Order: sequence, then C-alpha cells, then structure tokens
Amino acid sequence: MEKMEKRRKLIISLIGSSIIFILFVPLFQQSFRPRSSSPTFDYSRKHQIWKKRDDARMEGKESMELRLRRLVRGKDLAQLDATGMTCLYDFHFEQCIVNKPVIIPTNEPLVVYVPSDQPPEKRTLQPYARREDPTAMKEVTPIQILHGNNITHRKNASSYCEVTHEVPAIVFSSGGFIGNVFHELNEIIIPLFLTSRHFNSKVQFVITDYADWWVFKYKDVLKKLSSFEVLNGDGDGDGRVHCYPAAVFGLRYHDNLALNSSEIPGGYTVADFRNFLGETYNLTMKATKKPNKKPKVLLISRKETRVLLNEDEMVKMMLNLGFEIHKAKAHEMLYLDTFAQVVNSCDIIVGAHGAGLTNEVFLRDGAVVVQIVPLALNWASDTYYGNPAHSMGIEYMEYKIVAKESSLYDVYGPNDPIISNPLVVFEQGYRDARSLYIDGQNVTIDLTRFRGTLIEALKFLGYPIS
Ligand SMILES: *[C@@H]1O[C@H](CO)[C@@H](O)[C@H](O)[C@H]1NC(C)=O
Ligand SMILES: *[C@@H]1O[C@H](CO)[C@@H](O)[C@H](O)[C@H]1NC(C)=O
Ligand SMILES: *[C@@H]1O[C@H](CO)[C@@H](O)[C@H](O)[C@H]1NC(C)=O
Ligand SMILES: *[C@@H]1O[C@H](CO)[C@@H](O)[C@H](O)[C@H]1NC(C)=O
Ligand SMILES: *[C@@H]1O[C@H](CO)[C@@H](O)[C@H](O)[C@H]1NC(C)=O
Repeated sequence: MEKMEKRRKLIISLIGSSIIFILFVPLFQQSFRPRSSSPTFDYSRKHQIWKKRDDARMEGKESMELRLRRLVRGKDLAQLDATGMTCLYDFHFEQCIVNKPVIIPTNEPLVVYVPSDQPPEKRTLQPYARREDPTAMKEVTPIQILHGNNITHRKNASSYCEVTHEVPAIVFSSGGFIGNVFHELNEIIIPLFLTSRHFNSKVQFVITDYADWWVFKYKDVLKKLSSFEVLNGDGDGDGRVHCYPAAVFGLRYHDNLALNSSEIPGGYTVADFRNFLGETYNLTMKATKKPNKKPKVLLISRKETRVLLNEDEMVKMMLNLGFEIHKAKAHEMLYLDTFAQVVNSCDIIVGAHGAGLTNEVFLRDGAVVVQIVPLALNWASDTYYGNPAHSMGIEYMEYKIVAKESSLYDVYGPNDPIISNPLVVFEQGYRDARSLYIDGQNVTIDLTRFRGTLIEALKFLGYPIS
C-alpha cells in the first residue's frame, strides 16, 4: 500500500496534474477489469464438434510451440526442448520461457507454479528490461517460479485452476521507470512488441506492478498485440487461479529504442515497429512533402530541468519564420490516441535533450528532430535520441549549446572545469556530474544561431526560404 502511494505521488508529480489522475482512476478500473481469455465453449453432444475442436487445439498447440521456440536459440533452446523450461539472464533483461502448463494464482502475488516430473527448483526473476539499473529494478517486484515435482504447496495444482486459458501468458512489470516516456517505450513497449508480435494476438498479458494509468495510456498497443484483456498479476486482480498452457516471463530487449532483425525473435526492424504504431494509431508513416501548408513544429516544453528559459522568444522567432507551433504539454501525452496523431502531423520536433523527444517514433519518414544538446550531454543525446532517429529514417539535427547558453555558466564562470572541461568532472564522479548537468542546468538559446538550424531543417523539408 505504501509502495502504491509512493508511486502514485511520483506519477502525479510527473504528470503535473493530480486532477487528471484522480479523475481517471475509476475509469481505468472499469474498462480494464480482467476477464477470462477463454470463451466458454458450448460442450455440444455432437462428436464432430469435439473432433474439430481437438484438431484445432492440436494445430494451435503446434503453432504455439513454434512461437515459443522462436524466443530462444542454442543451448537455451536445447534446454527448453529437454525440460520444457529455460531461463536466461542477459545484461539488460531476465526471461523465463515455459512450454508446459503454468499456474498463476492472482490471489497469491507473484508466485507461479510449473508442476512437472523434474527435480524441484525455484527461479526468481524481475520482468523489466533494465536489469543493469538498480534504481529501476527497485520498482520491479520479483516473481518466483516454482518448478518441478515437489512444489508442495500446489502439489495437486491442476485441480486448483479456476480459469483455464488456451493461449500462453506473457508476464511483465509496469513498474521500473514508468512515468518517463522514453523508458515506457524502451523497456516495455518495444520489448513487448519483440516478445509478442509473432503470436498473432494469441497471448494474454499478465502485468505485475500493475499501474492503471499506464495500462490506460497504452491500451491501443495492448489491444493490437493481444486479443484478450490484460490481467492484473499483483494479487489484487480478480483473485482467481489462472492456468495457461505455456508462459513467457519477462521481455526481450535489444538496444535503445532499437529492433535488430538478426536478434531474437528474428526479422523485426524499427520500420516494422513504426508501421505497427501507424496501424495502431492511424498514422501515415510514409514521407509526404507538403510545401503548400505551413511547416508545423512540435515544441517540447520542459518545466523543471533543462528548461528553455527564453522559450517565449523562441516561439516568436519560429512564428516569424512561418511555423505553426504545437506546444506539447505533459498531460496531453497520456492520451496517446490523439497525441500520436498530433506528432504525426508535425514536420519537426524541437526540444532539449529529454524523454519528450521519444515522440520521434510517431513522426513520418523524413521528418526532422532538432535536439538541443545542453552542456556535457553529447553522449546521452546521441545514444538515446540521435542514433535511434537515424535508424528510424528520421532526419536528425543537433543544436549544441555553447557554454554561455548554459545556466551553469552564470554560476561557475568560464574558468571552472565544470564549464571548461566537463569530461574531467565526469571522470571524478559520474553520479554528481550527472545530476549537475542533467538536473542542474537550464538553457537560454542564442536565437540567431538557432534560427540557422531551423532554416536548415526547412530546407531539408523542401520549404522555400524567403
Ligand atoms: C519436498 O519438499 C519439502 C519441503 O519443501 C521437503 O521437506 C521434502 O523432503 C521434499 N520431498 C522430496 C521427496 O524431495
Ligand atoms: C488431486 O486432484 C485430483 C483430481 O482433481 C483428486 O482426485 C485428488 O484427490 C487430489 N489429491 C489430493 C491429495 O488433493
Ligand atoms: C544486430 O545483432 C547482430 C547479432 O547479434 C549483431 O552482430 C549486430 O551487431 C547487431 N546490429 C546492431 C546494429 O546492433
Ligand atoms: C482510423 O482510420 C479509420 C479509417 O481511415 C477510421 O475509421 C477510424 O475511426 C480511425 N481511428 C482512429 C482512432 O482515429
Ligand atoms: C531551471 O528553471 C526552472 C524553471 O524556471 C527552475 O525551477 C529551476 O530551479 C532552474 N534550475 C536551475 C538549476 O537553475
């Protein structure tokens, strides 16, 4: 309860408006009440129907097995085939794949059972793809998987099933760094796509560290990837014991906002993911040059850190250049169905280094991202937004500030190593340096120089420059 409260507070501060959150809690709960993934069958007396069902079930079982096997390779695959279960602990993620009946009691949080004739073993994993980051993982409750022939508590487990599903469960956490859109896409949405897309919606998502608002925000993605309603796996779900023919715990991760077609599950590129978003949110991902209409810019307006201190002057300058401006506000991003379309209608995103730039995933091909890079944040800017933009087919431009544009310059002056030699400052202590440059810096943009960058962007987009 205390943890819930803490998270709630965090989210409120992130969204910047408690009213929105409070208004929506009841709504989420109504629309996401879990229900069984197995429609009740009409157990007809006719043999034929039974026969048909059995055939369909066999077919379904085979394809389910193929789909599960696509998630492992090499010795992990050999182990899955030999024992029906394998777990891998990668640098970024933890994942267990189980190709036999799994019991998930939602009345008994985060312990699951896999009865079998193997010697008993207990596996623990945290189903969130930021394993290397202890701060994120503190917000992710571990799941215990009890596997084998002497899992005493549920020895007779199959007789406990209250809801029997015919599709596998994919279990993941909506904890970690949610509240930050970069992490939501990087650690959950893209990994979920990689793990589940090839199941053709024949999976049910079981979400631990269940956050109503997160499920609401990504409802369209969740619906597109699964034909079944999500199940709250925390123990305050429907309180029943759910049984699945197989399950995947944890999500596969490749790299920052990346999909590598050579890696598991094989064949998915960033373009596939963007097309998936296009289908989900009705977007046009193909480049469309529209020199007849005004160029439209999405301005990411930050309020606490890396604030553009002369944002109003920037806006005036952009209006003078002929731009139509949409200023993105934090609460707006909760309604992804409409917000994704707003982003998609823009030609350019402008913003200081920060999570808001993640919205580049919704731009059409050939649109432009202009990242304002504060002092000492070159590496992070390239790694999290620059390189991913390139791989998405989006034109990426940087506006690197000079020392004088940083608020740190006014505080420390030109001769302090904080200004003259940030690399040394990073070497002396990563944590302090990070909080200094990431959280302790605002910028005042040089309007003349920035105007030059925007004109470059307009030229790239094919707009005549007057
Ligand atoms: C089964 O597990 C219980 C407790 O976990 C233990 O006391 C018992 O010896 C085990 N039995 C076998 C046959 O391994
Ligand atoms: C286990 O379940 C089976 C089938 O439901 C039942 O017949 C049997 O009595 C149960 N055994 C125990 C020890 O509960
Ligand atoms: C994609 O994955 C393959 C196989 O793991 C690897 O060799 C290659 O470097 C990766 N590509 C990128 C761009 O990371
Ligand atoms: C998506 O587009 C289709 C047809 O173009 C339309 O019927 C539907 O309402 C749109 N959905 C959304 C969410 O905009
Ligand atoms: C940055 O600007 C915001 C908003 O004006 C302010 O609250 C914050 O204290 C500033 N940060 C620094 C380090 O000056």
